[in-house]
Amino acid sequence: MIAPSLLSADFGNLKTEIEMLNASQADWIHLDIMDGVFVPNISFGFPVIEAIKKYAKKPLDMHLMIVEPQKFIREFKNADAYMLTVHYETCTHLHRTIQQIKSEGMKAGVSLNPHTPISLLEDIICDVDMVMLMSVNPGFGGQQFIENTYKKVLRLKELILRKKSKALIEVDGGVNYETAKKLFDCGADVLVAGSFVFNSDNPSEVISRLKYS
Ligand code: DX5
Ligand code: ZN
Repeated sequence: MIAPSLLSADFGNLKTEIEMLNASQADWIHLDIMDGVFVPNISFGFPVIEAIKKYAKKPLDMHLMIVEPQKFIREFKNADAYMLTVHYETCTHLHRTIQQIKSEGMKAGVSLNPHTPISLLEDIICDVDMVMLMSVNPGFGGQQFIENTYKKVLRLKELILRKKSKALIEVDGGVNYETAKKLFDCGADVLVAGSFVFNSDNPSEVISRLKYS
C-alpha cells in the first residue's frame, strides 16, 4: 500500500491536491502533525485537518509527532482518523494510549525513531494494528533514507511472525522507486511518500509506480 504524505503538497491548493489523491491509486492519505516540541518543526493543526477531511475520500493515516498525544485522542477521532499513530518516544504509558485509541474506534499505530530498537516492542506488538518505522529523523520531508531501516523491517517482521501479531509494517521517509522495492521485499506493507510524489511532474503516476515497485 502507498500513503502519500500531504506535507509536501501545495498548501495553497490543498483541495486540488486531495482530489488528485482521491483519483489516484493511493491507499491512504498520510497527515504529519508536528508540534515544534517533539520535532523541530510545526506543520498544521485541527482547522487544516478539518478542511482535509472535507475533501478526502481515502482513509486518513495520522502520524502524531507531538508530546502527550493522549490528550488529543478524542479530537483526532472527531477529525476522522482511520489510523492514529503515536511515537514510542512520547508515550510513558504506551499500552494505555494504544487502548484509548482503539476504544475510540480507530486503528492504533506506534512509530519508532531511527535509533529506537525493535526489541522494545516485544510486549506491545500484539496490541497494535501497525508499527511505523521512521527511515529519516522525523520533522521534515525530503531527507535522505537511513539504510539501517531495511534491517529493522526484517527484525520487525520476525517479531510479528514469532508473536503471531497482525500488525502492519509502515515505513516513513525517503521513499522512492529504489527504496520502495527493497522495503516491500523486506516485508513492509505500507510506504509513506511525500516529496518523491509531490515534487514530480505526475504525482498520480508516481503513486501507481511506487505501489507496484
Ligand atoms: C517526516 C514525515 C514524513 C514526510 C516524508 O517527519 O513523517 O511523513 O512527509 O517525506 P519524504 O517522503 O519526502 O521523506
Ligand atoms: Zn509521517
